[in-house]
Amino acid sequence: MRVEVFFTPGELQGADVAGRTVVVIDVLRATTTIAEAFAAGARAVYPVASVEEAARLASTLGRDEVLLCGERRCLPIEGFDLGNSPREFTSERVAGKALVMSTTNGTYAISLATGAERVITASFANLGAVAAAIAGDTDVVIVCAGRQGRFALEDAVCAGLLLEALAGPGGSAPEGGDAVDAARSLAGSFAPTREMLANTAAGRDLIDAGLGDDLELCARIDRLDLVPVIRDRHIELLETAAA
Ligand code: MLT
Repeated sequence: MRVEVFFTPGELQGADVAGRTVVVIDVLRATTTIAEAFAAGARAVYPVASVEEAARLASTLGRDEVLLCGERRCLPIEGFDLGNSPREFTSERVAGKALVMSTTNGTYAISLATGAERVITASFANLGAVAAAIAGDTDVVIVCAGRQGRFALEDAVCAGLLLEALAGPGGSAPEGGDAVDAARSLAGSFAPTREMLANTAAGRDLIDAGLGDDLELCARIDRLDLVPVIRDRHIELLETAAA
């Protein structure tokens, strides 16, 4: 397997993703929340970059048929049904629903993967399921959503743990460049815990916004056995990995 790791979405821009599997990671919080939404029974997630696009798509799909969700500066967007806290995505709120989601970094990173063979979203929550789903792929790109275009430690650690899972116990690193080595090294140095997340820039933003309780859920590894995958314009569950 050949793997390329991009620590920021800016590095991915212009990269050729055609024919490749792209795994997008935004631990705090978009890809954790997407996994949580599917665990709670959401039917589909439509990732969009802007608030305007979200409103337009919701009216095309039928405003009563969808839930608008997402955040700006960590907080729910005015007029939207849900924010971007995984704790909000309960089966009572989202089971059977289509969600139109716009977040600052995560849904933007997903939008850059257009043209890939397949696009999957990963977080600590569904790391093992994603590793199993892509284990047979030959050409994989891991893109970290980062924070405001910059490096985010939690996404890099998640990328590294995904590489570890692909290598298997005692296994060798998937073939890649310096970023692959760096991600694996970070994964060996930073265990995914609430404390680790609380010391990241994105974690501090969440604590300052009064959303520190999200960190516990975002840190927990392998609690969801599911793989969200993009089909056309929306994300759905990869059938073989669904619980
Ligand atoms: C994002 O996509 O920018 C993040 O998920 C921000 C957040 O924590 O809500």
